[in-house]
Amino acid sequence: MILDKNWRILTVGDGDLSFSYSLAKHFAPAHLTASVYDSESELKHKYQDNAFNKLHDLGITVVTQFDVTDALCWQKVPPHAFDAVIFQFPLIPAFDSFESFQNQTLSVNSLNRKLLREFLINAAAYALDPNGAQLGIITSKDVKPYIEWNLEGSLINGLEQYYLGQSRFEISQFPEYQIRNVDRDKHVKDTSGISYYWSVNPAHAIKEKLKVPDYLGDDYCTVCRAGPFINDRDKLAHLDSKKHKNMQRHESAWLNYLSTQAKLER
Ligand SMILES: C[S@@+](CC[C@H](N)C(=O)[O-])C[C@H]1O[C@@H](n2cnc3c(N)ncnc32)[C@H](O)[C@@H]1O
Repeated sequence: MILDKNWRILTVGDGDLSFSYSLAKHFAPAHLTASVYDSESELKHKYQDNAFNKLHDLGITVVTQFDVTDALCWQKVPPHAFDAVIFQFPLIPAFDSFESFQNQTLSVNSLNRKLLREFLINAAAYALDPNGAQLGIITSKDVKPYIEWNLEGSLINGLEQYYLGQSRFEISQFPEYQIRNVDRDKHVKDTSGISYYWSVNPAHAIKEKLKVPDYLGDDYCTVCRAGPFINDRDKLAHLDSKKHKNMQRHESAWLNYLSTQAKLER
């Protein structure tokens, strides 16, 4: 993960706060504000081993009940005061009942994409300093279902933001960080991931240090990360595959959601 010690960083959705604690203690950026979705009591109940008090002892502000999709929550942090806003291993919370799951009109795939899109929109609108580094960063796993969100593609369709590239996330860079399962006091064993970077600046200097994966090139199926195809037959076989049709269903549902939203906003 590429970070700069000169950055003023805001972390969001940081479950047990161990990522923020690791950053504060072992990386020490110019400034750090940490935030979590839960209230202090929910966090302490959910994760017995949490870094809430330890961050407090280091003098780091922790903002609780910070929902990245809610514009009002972004008023809890200083406006336009950050260089980078980081969301580690995002995932929508579990539904609180079978009924709320059934009442949901969007698929779980689209809901996760919506969470991340709204995170990037709100980070740029409220937290990022227009005179700063202006980066939205998401670290996610390189396996299903996370790779089914087309993060590098249609996530930001129609926004004035640009996907800059990615870097490998190495847990060894972050001592004492425990990557959490959503809403559970368990940490995950497979810690490999990819950190994805976005900015309103398409010519951002950080691009030099980031990698743009081959699967975004021609002769690949970007949504499936498949290819390179050696000929048309190879490509057609992929387009006809179960994997592609499944991915296409996710992608169509998402594009459908975006076009419905665009009509509502007109
Ligand atoms: C898989 S956990 C990862 C937790 C932590 N970031 C880590 O790396 O261990 C997903 C996290 O996303 C958070 N989250 C989900 N929806 C959110 C929202 N709307 N706003 C803020 N955080 C959210 C959850 O509270 C949960 O802590």
